[in-house]
Amino acid sequence: MSLLAVSNLTKNYRRTGKPVAAVDDVSFTIEPGETLALAGPSGSGKSTIARLVLRLIEPDAGRIEFEGSDFLALRGVALRARRARLQMVFQDPLAAFNPRATVARVLDDPLRVHGIAPRTERPRRIAALLERVGLAVDLAPRAIHEISGGQRQRVAIARAIATKPSLIVLDEAVSALDVSVRGQILDLLLDLQRRERIAFLFISHDLGVVRAVAHRVILLDAGRIAESGDARTVIDLPQSAVGKALVAAAPRLNRYRP
Ligand SMILES: Nc1ncnc2c1ncn2[C@@H]1O[C@H](COP(=O)(O)OP(=O)(O)O)[C@@H](O)[C@H]1O
Ligand SMILES: [Mg+2]
Repeated sequence: MSLLAVSNLTKNYRRTGKPVAAVDDVSFTIEPGETLALAGPSGSGKSTIARLVLRLIEPDAGRIEFEGSDFLALRGVALRARRARLQMVFQDPLAAFNPRATVARVLDDPLRVHGIAPRTERPRRIAALLERVGLAVDLAPRAIHEISGGQRQRVAIARAIATKPSLIVLDEAVSALDVSVRGQILDLLLDLQRRERIAFLFISHDLGVVRAVAHRVILLDAGRIAESGDARTVIDLPQSAVGKALVAAAPRLNRYRP
């Protein structure tokens, strides 16, 4: 059984009266511990798929099975419990968190909301999470807006792993970071995946990054799957028009070697 099975997912938006298929009949699976990348040009539907999988928006059609349950049918307590297993990291943690919140507060929230640790135990859990993502424990009382972009993305990853997820959706999670910090965050993600067998739905427009971290890749074009397969095979020899165009536009595909 796949960890995630998405079938015939479709989402339309209206633009100046006309329907636009942001996601058009997309199907894929993710296995436990696997990284599946979604790549494609801007506007090809990557973020819409992320939001659908996270149930931040509802599809017009299609099915999402997660850990063996019909994810779109879950409600109430069952939905909340399952949500703990499906976490997210976005491009800009400043937008995702209250910038005035402290690092400790950001990490305390999931532990509290999902009832993972009693109050007295949470500071110890927070310290362990910080250590797990390579941050100093004395960062805990600092405000989110005071720390660097790379540190913030480590906090976002710590928050995502706090609830022991089986799948993390990463939407352009390293795209805003400069190259050296980006490499460090990719190393951290790969280390977490190796040790904890977390699967990633890894969204990026950067094929160099995708080639370095993904097992499989789906290339999207205008909401549809243009091609898919083993990440290196697809990126080294793309068959689709959109794949060829993306590779031609990608500088130095071998830059990352985690
Ligand atoms: N909330 C929305 N309202 C209207 N159109 C949207 C909305 N979100 C996305 N779209 C449209 O859906 C398409 C896919 O967008 P998106 O999933 O954000 O692409 P990507 O993440 O690949 O850049 C684009 O044409 C975009 O303009
Ligand atoms: Mg996007």
